[in-house]
Amino acid sequence: MKTETELRELLASLTLEEKVGQLVQLSGEFFSDDEGLKTGPTQKLGIDPTMVELAGSVLNVAGAEKTRAVQEAYLAKSRHKIPLLFMNDVVYGCKTVLPIPLGFAASWDPDLVRECYAGAAEEARAMGIHVTFAPMLDLVRDARWGRSLESTGEDPWLTSVYARAMVEGLQGDDLARAGIASCIKHFAGYGAVEAGRDYNTVDMSERRLREMYLPPYRAAVEAGCRAVMPSFNVIDEVPSTANTWLLRDVLRGEWGFDGAVVTDYAAISELVPHGVAADDAEAARLALEAGVDVDMKTACYANNLCDLVRSGAVDEALVDEACLRVLTLKNDLGLFDDPYRGASPAEEERTFLTDEKRARARKLADESIVLLKNEHDLLPLDPQGEGRIALIGPYAASHALIGLWAVQGDPASVPTLAEALTEIAGDRVTCAQGSPYLVDESSLGFFGRSGAGDAAWDEDSLGALREEALAVARKADVVIMALGEHPMESGEGGSKADLRLPAIQRELLRAVHALGKPVVGVIFSGRTPVLSDIAPWCDALIEAWFPGTEGTHALADILFGVVNPSGRTAMTFPYATGQEPLYYNAFNTGRPEKTSGHTNRFTSRYVDCPTDPLYPFGYGLSYTTFAYENLRASSETLTADGTLEVSVDVTNTGRMAGDEVVQLYVRDLVGSVVRPVKELKGFERVHLEPGERRTVSFTIDEPMLRFWRRDLTFGSEPGAFEVMVGPHSAEVQTLPFTLVA
Ligand code: NOJ
Repeated sequence: MKTETELRELLASLTLEEKVGQLVQLSGEFFSDDEGLKTGPTQKLGIDPTMVELAGSVLNVAGAEKTRAVQEAYLAKSRHKIPLLFMNDVVYGCKTVLPIPLGFAASWDPDLVRECYAGAAEEARAMGIHVTFAPMLDLVRDARWGRSLESTGEDPWLTSVYARAMVEGLQGDDLARAGIASCIKHFAGYGAVEAGRDYNTVDMSERRLREMYLPPYRAAVEAGCRAVMPSFNVIDEVPSTANTWLLRDVLRGEWGFDGAVVTDYAAISELVPHGVAADDAEAARLALEAGVDVDMKTACYANNLCDLVRSGAVDEALVDEACLRVLTLKNDLGLFDDPYRGASPAEEERTFLTDEKRARARKLADESIVLLKNEHDLLPLDPQGEGRIALIGPYAASHALIGLWAVQGDPASVPTLAEALTEIAGDRVTCAQGSPYLVDESSLGFFGRSGAGDAAWDEDSLGALREEALAVARKADVVIMALGEHPMESGEGGSKADLRLPAIQRELLRAVHALGKPVVGVIFSGRTPVLSDIAPWCDALIEAWFPGTEGTHALADILFGVVNPSGRTAMTFPYATGQEPLYYNAFNTGRPEKTSGHTNRFTSRYVDCPTDPLYPFGYGLSYTTFAYENLRASSETLTADGTLEVSVDVTNTGRMAGDEVVQLYVRDLVGSVVRPVKELKGFERVHLEPGERRTVSFTIDEPMLRFWRRDLTFGSEPGAFEVMVGPHSAEVQTLPFTLVA
């Protein structure tokens, strides 16, 4: 490792071009040995060819052989032997793919998430990846946004808990020895794009930004994340990539962040279409001044910074500052001692998809899957029974179970649900596709080609698929419908204006339901879809998300009762798309529908749809039942330096062992600004045998009650509060207490 003095000496020995080179990040095709290939992308990006040679980091190249070869060739030509930095998207698992973050957020198991992220870092490190663009910490309250998939849901406190776990898991204790660096994203507020449309405008008060959206990023900074990626959106009409207030005042000034700021893809050049820069040169100046260190995938820094410095338009000290941050990151990663960081095919062999990692991914999938409905205890199915099982739907025999952002994962190696069910129930299972995911994939864009294929569906072929499925269903005693969004309908660029499942699947479900057989719906999705026209046609309903490498094994275990479901959704399931944005920690309004003195018409509600969601935040069923009794508090008052113990007795009142997630909410009844009707402040996942009773206790103290007050200072306000405990946000028991000054 170099000392800080050595790093500064190295910096001083670099030419201006070499320093700017360290700030340039290019994708893999630039580093090919094939000169022809290299010329192509260079011309396409319009980047000065000498800067290609000097670029300091690489985007999305992975695999030990490849990264070693690129590094070796680069170092052979490099004057100062400063190793390249390899950055990649390892968003939720690497080779061993975890459930999507919105899925594993339902586990309420940050310790397991930390272990799984450590495993992902180990696999990534073996491949030569040094930094991952993860975790994604954008709070999301609007399921129209396709990137809900990558988030851990709508709650700032829960997302902060996961933020810490993910960063700690990825980076470990000593980055030079193990783990990879975490570049959190997308700073800030990207989850609040208007109308859920990707890359769209964000507009909110500074108070809301600080209260709801910033805490998860801050938690990650406090956990030591080494890099931050600004978001594509604007905040107060300034794109984050040029936002000095956000990047310098808040991130570096208030939070003390001293790591690297790495743009999102092409974000500096996008300052031009945003309309805050006239050209790439101005965009480069704005970004550098705002505190952006690394330019991902544009020629803005490469082609303009040297001239800007020489003309006096930009202070060279800003280039030095940014370059030093990049060199520091390389040093902290141990790259000056070992530019390959131990990456090798042998390491890949040793670390990829090990039994241990698979077991953890499976446990996480077990805990992520949410049972939404289970009438007449239709589930679990009897693994030893004789009944015939029809498995119908586009996801019945699909491998597309890892979601859009599992870049290193291999969907083909993920067992289909049909295979996983057959492992348990053998030839009792008969499978039929029934329908495609979507009849018309044309709007999915380029990525759609890797989905269900290019099949042009005509009425005859659709009819034949359906008839085949109905014939299979007729012979069955129970039907499992494996339905969901097209795999490319969520993730980046996957925003939707209609959150219902595709019409072809809804029609198929109704046709099967009409046969009068018991129906289990299993839904695969990268968001919380509208299921109000699915649930009535299913006796039991499961949200499976995109469950990852081991997801179908977990699902089969849940369907057959080997595992008792325990997932609790971290994002509200809307009743209808028009309710979005919809979230539990909302304000009461002056005319709350249920308690207002006004006649119902003039309360805050819809005339064509319920106000409540279909399934609220924190909701999920089990094959057993839990009773909550005897909620009590150690006192009726809380002092500024004291604590309040709140306890409840939870009993497993059913016949199967199971896990319950006991949730703690608080409400500040009167504030200098309006406060949410509920805010999550704690939880505990408890395992209870049948008949077992456990006392679950939480400690409340004054710091937990702080918020951004009317004068935008952060603190609590004495007065009346409520504490609530229960199985989910819409079912709680309440006690009052008072905070005294
Ligand atoms: C664009 C996405 O917004 C970001 O999340 C990702 O890390 C980069 N592309 C790099 O692939």
